[in-house]
Amino acid sequence: QFGFPARSKPVSTDPNICLNLMTELKCCPDWSSKKIVNFKLQPQSSPLRVRRPAHALDAEAAQKYERATALMRALPDNHPWNFVQQANIHCAYCSGNLRQLGLNISLEIHGSWHFFTWHRAYLYFYERILGKLLNDPSFALPFWNWDDPSGMSIPAIYRDNSSSLSNPTRYPIGLKFIDLGGCEGNNTVESLPMQRQCNLQLMHRQFIAGFNSSSLFYGSPYRAGDNSFPGGGAIESLPHSPVHLFTSSDMSILTRAAQDPIFFAHHANIDRLWAIWESIPGNGSKVFNNDKDFLEASFLFWDENKQLVRIMVRDVIDTAKLGYVYEQVPLQWMNLRT
Ligand code: C2O
Repeated sequence: QFGFPARSKPVSTDPNICLNLMTELKCCPDWSSKKIVNFKLQPQSSPLRVRRPAHALDAEAAQKYERATALMRALPDNHPWNFVQQANIHCAYCSGNLRQLGLNISLEIHGSWHFFTWHRAYLYFYERILGKLLNDPSFALPFWNWDDPSGMSIPAIYRDNSSSLSNPTRYPIGLKFIDLGGCEGNNTVESLPMQRQCNLQLMHRQFIAGFNSSSLFYGSPYRAGDNSFPGGGAIESLPHSPVHLFTSSDMSILTRAAQDPIFFAHHANIDRLWAIWESIPGNGSKVFNNDKDFLEASFLFWDENKQLVRIMVRDVIDTAKLGYVYEQVPLQWMNLRT
């Protein structure tokens, strides 16, 4: 017409095309021909799920989580709740395999404003499936509290190789102190205080970098027809990526990352940082709340009733409406002077 760009639209997942581009990892979910239901927020009849720090779980909660994950692993290979099937959903959304609805272009959930939103929805369903397997509607995923000195190594529940929560292929990092990004010391008693301080300063910098700007925090807009990775937010680059690399093995490869159960604790902490950012007065209104291409983007997941569900970003903005909250723990980095 007169050179106007086409009307913009939100990205949406095509259930019928998935390409298995990588031969060594065929992670396409079996979605075609399945009936899709639109997501509806559940009425708040069940108790709020409270997500707690993984290193501070009591023995009973840790056992429950371990048992639920073991049950998930024991399901038939093609069951939508099977652990590998669940991990494959993450892979499908970051391997270029899935397509945007109606467009022959890949749907990628990293490196844009959908980084926080997609992972929140993914964890939401994953947590509810575990709860269903336990028959416990209050079951909550733990978070890896790596932004606090007490959580700056692999939490014990993920370190026991006989546990369903472990991943024996990880490099044996044991109690090694984490590097959130350029903070690696030699892990001696003398270097730990410096590493700790460096991690806290990095947390402060990255969080404050996105303090006044939605796109610095969330990442750049990503609309239907856009190419992948228009630009990630501050937290996605640091400390999100270094924590993946620190964990090693599956966690260090995007398409395999969710094969390590610690992935879900890592991303619960990422999700928690988003919830903290949202709770800061003024920030709620900085959510791209006038942008339909943000709010109406939609993704597909298996839910806890084995239904294939289409969920929109507007449904995941408020964790309490999704039925969960994070236990409040100290934020040593928040008011740090640097
Ligand atoms: Cu979807 Cu931390 O990666």
